[in-house]
Amino acid sequence: QVKRPVPPDIRARKGGTPLVMLTAYTTPVARLVDPHCDMVLVGDSVGMVLHGLPSTLGVTMEMMILHGQAVARGLERAMLVIDMPFGSYEEGEAQAFRNAARLMAETGAAAVKLEGGAHMAPTIAFLTARGIPVMAHIGLTPQAVNTLGGYRVQGRGEDADRIRRDAVAVAGAGAFSVVLEKVPEVLAAEVTERLDIPTIGIGASARCDGQVLVVDDMLGLFTAFRPKFVKRYGELGAAADAAIAAYAEEVRARTFPAAEHVFGEEARK
Ligand code: KIV
Ligand code: NA
Repeated sequence: QVKRPVPPDIRARKGGTPLVMLTAYTTPVARLVDPHCDMVLVGDSVGMVLHGLPSTLGVTMEMMILHGQAVARGLERAMLVIDMPFGSYEEGEAQAFRNAARLMAETGAAAVKLEGGAHMAPTIAFLTARGIPVMAHIGLTPQAVNTLGGYRVQGRGEDADRIRRDAVAVAGAGAFSVVLEKVPEVLAAEVTERLDIPTIGIGASARCDGQVLVVDDMLGLFTAFRPKFVKRYGELGAAADAAIAAYAEEVRARTFPAAEHVFGEEARK
């Protein structure tokens, strides 16, 4: 039995075997991903993936706590990280601490993740100094979709300097790792080399210290849209559709339930 990693263990894996991370939002999926992952993220992507919201902006603390508790029940060996939802940390350090502490206390998560670079550095330092490990998230930050103007690649050309500054700022503030979302490969490689904390890529090439994907994306369960960086390792959506269609057909044909699913008057010998 391998020891369950804690944030300093994750940090110490900088430059080593790539870190494996997936999202989960429910107990059964947490049980599936747990044996294979170093870290499991209860992402605010839960709003879009499970609740049908148009963006992550409508995700609440209550949703994160409910899904965080469900995921925690399914984990034994992977480290649990939970996203701070939009509006729960941006006002200031005290608000961020209050909500981060609540997320950790009510779910048992080992760390929180929050979006933002240089402007969030004081908050990251504040939380870290007070016992809350922070995973930063820079590059494409979906909670900022309205100011970014979409879900485009970040850090191309002149914009690369912004991402470099963000990376250095969050690492300097004490983040134990940083998600790099949707940035060009050369920039991801440069940032990974420059920082002494692990970079976790999503749409940021294999030249990061680890990878994260939304589990429903890689399983082919969430198919509303597919970003270029998603690789489908399964087609569970198609498999589910076929199963549901077969059920509907058999109900209409009265071939389900069959004899083996039916109770007789007498107990079987
Ligand atoms: O919410 C989420 O799932 C995320 C990851 C994709 C990094 O933030
Ligand atoms: Na997120």
